Amino acid sequence: MAIIAVGSINTDLVVRVESFPIPGETVYGDEFATYAGGKGANQAAAAARLNGKVKMIGAVGDDVNSSERLADLKDAGVDISPVMIRSQSPGGVALIQVDASGQNQIVIVPGANGTVSPDDIRHELPDLLSAGDLVLLQFELPFETVKQSLEQCRSQGARSIVNTAPYVTGTADLLSLIDILVVNEIEAGQLLGIKPVSLDQAEDAARDLLARGPEVVFVTLGGDGAVICDADSCEHIPAPDVDVVDTTGAGDATVGAFAMALDEGQDVAAAARIAVMTGSFAVQRPGAQPSQPTRSELDAFVAKHS
Ligand SMILES: Nc1ncnc2c1ncn2[C@@H]1O[C@H](COP(=O)(O)OP(=O)(O)O)[C@@H](O)[C@H]1O
Ligand SMILES: [Mg+2]
Repeated sequence: MAIIAVGSINTDLVVRVESFPIPGETVYGDEFATYAGGKGANQAAAAARLNGKVKMIGAVGDDVNSSERLADLKDAGVDISPVMIRSQSPGGVALIQVDASGQNQIVIVPGANGTVSPDDIRHELPDLLSAGDLVLLQFELPFETVKQSLEQCRSQGARSIVNTAPYVTGTADLLSLIDILVVNEIEAGQLLGIKPVSLDQAEDAARDLLARGPEVVFVTLGGDGAVICDADSCEHIPAPDVDVVDTTGAGDATVGAFAMALDEGQDVAAAARIAVMTGSFAVQRPGAQPSQPTRSELDAFVAKHS
């Protein structure tokens, strides 16, 4: 079996400033860094780095950032042959300013990500997909493209694993098409039309979400770990105590690891434990993709914390 990641590929351009410029003002920043990003790419890389078999469908431009992003994905072990290269659009970028108090201002330009159409999915997915494969989705591609992917999973006998991030209006209407749902505490609340859920409320929220279609609901809760539920049972998985350096991409590492473990044939509870450990590993290092563990790093981390 394999994982087919259908999602975004971005370059995060991060600058640190003392305080944000006001309109018309020019200020000097004191740090600049370029990171591989995009939820689709991050999750695909996380799964592949843990030895998951991952193919990625998405789009980049023919610019320098885009070729670096493809090289990163290839290094992580992702099969990038289905990624489309657009000459008319740049690869997706996120322009991120972080001020001295740690607040951020972000401008995302979807670029090539926004060109991945339902027709592309109709053409690309059938050849790539076999019955029993897992299709990994998030919401940084156009909504109709995600919906088309879900419909094709149903008609081709593949399972979908969907991270409803970032939360987009209308996502709740897709729940009946989703097999495995992964949300954080905020997204769980958004899907149910309530406030972010606490650890105490997570099990009830997961059961409410299960009633709307998915077979499995995995709610991640930051430092509180996660709750995993299916029709038979619910389990809270605490996160290990770690020194938190940067939580960027923790959720993506968690989702990628969950997909890898499910595709490997682990049961949902075992897969969720691996996923929580992977997320907690990732908060110890800066960046999204650079913070993800290899399989041997994860094994050593699990041994240390159990
Ligand atoms: N402070 C933390 N300490 C330990 N693990 C953490 C911490 N924050 C996140 N994690 C790990 O990363 C996973 C995903 O984090 P979470 O914040 O729920 O996702 P997201 O990034 O989508 O908001 C958690 O389930 C946990 O395993
Ligand atoms: Mg969080």
